[in-house]
Amino acid sequence: MIPIIAEIERVKQAFMTALEAATTHQALEQVRLLFLSRQGELAALMAQLKELSVEQKRQAGPALNELRSLFQVAFDARQKLVADLAMRGEQEQAASFDVTAVRSVARRGSIHIYTQIIEKLEDIFISMGYSVVEGPEVETEFYNFDALNIPANHPARDAHDTFWLTIPSLLLRTHTSPVQIRALEKQEFPLAICAPGRVYRNEATDASHNFMFTQIEGLFIDKHVSMANLIATVETFLQAVFEKKDLKVRARPSYFPFVEPGIEIDCSCPFCAAGCSICKKTGWIELMGAGLVHPNVLKSCGIDPEIYSGFAFGLGIDRLAMMKYGINDIRLFQSPKIGFLEQF
Ligand code: DAH
Repeated sequence: MIPIIAEIERVKQAFMTALEAATTHQALEQVRLLFLSRQGELAALMAQLKELSVEQKRQAGPALNELRSLFQVAFDARQKLVADLAMRGEQEQAASFDVTAVRSVARRGSIHIYTQIIEKLEDIFISMGYSVVEGPEVETEFYNFDALNIPANHPARDAHDTFWLTIPSLLLRTHTSPVQIRALEKQEFPLAICAPGRVYRNEATDASHNFMFTQIEGLFIDKHVSMANLIATVETFLQAVFEKKDLKVRARPSYFPFVEPGIEIDCSCPFCAAGCSICKKTGWIELMGAGLVHPNVLKSCGIDPEIYSGFAFGLGIDRLAMMKYGINDIRLFQSPKIGFLEQF
């Protein structure tokens, strides 16, 4: 027997074994590549045929032709079987799909009311050309007090019940005003920033006081900035906050060491026409501290107060939220009471 006949027999066995093992389209494709492709076993045998003598070709030719048709028939049959298997698998999966099954629903959170209000206030500031900046909650005595014209032993420090860290001259910031200093130090003018964030006061808590709350600070510095600019800016800002175009503001003299003159700004009650419990029947609501930035503050940042001037204002976000939603206890904002938090 010529060697190619034995070779044909070996390839045939190998092909049948591989074919029977193939149960997926991918496995079948491997078989096709190995045996039926141009680089496959069948093509290799065909190539050998050319090398044989006429006598040998007479034996091997028909055997190879037979092998080729066997391969084709067996392969086609297997392909159909694999396709049937795949379809049955899908059907079984579909049949076992339980349309009544209940999936446990994960509890969805909601955006904290602080975040919602801060985002709204930031949008308003941005629409007025301000940028949003942040400062650290662990501050130095310098930024929180000294640079804001509140030196050691200044009585104003008593009003800020401060959480001091055990590391000397570090504290939890008592207001967002230190972010003013951090922005001023960059010395880029005109400067228009807002700075929202948490602040801390070491005081007993009750329905209207908490040891941690949230403020937002506004600061504008340029040449020739006046009190009129401050009032107009705050009025525009508050009209947007309360979505009331006819909202009015009024200023009362006040004292904050980092502004001169310092004022407190009230707005006409956005919730009533003739007096309600929120404005305590006065028609006005106290909202924020403000003023023209004190020359000492500018000097402490290396800015010449003869050239530059500006205004600052700061307000509490908690109080804003309490008024808007009729919340009577400031501590609720920090509480884990889901029932309260998910209302917003
Ligand atoms: N930082 C002050 C506070 O927490 C609020 C304040 C008052 C901010 C006057 C200002 C300002 O920017 O000009 O009580």
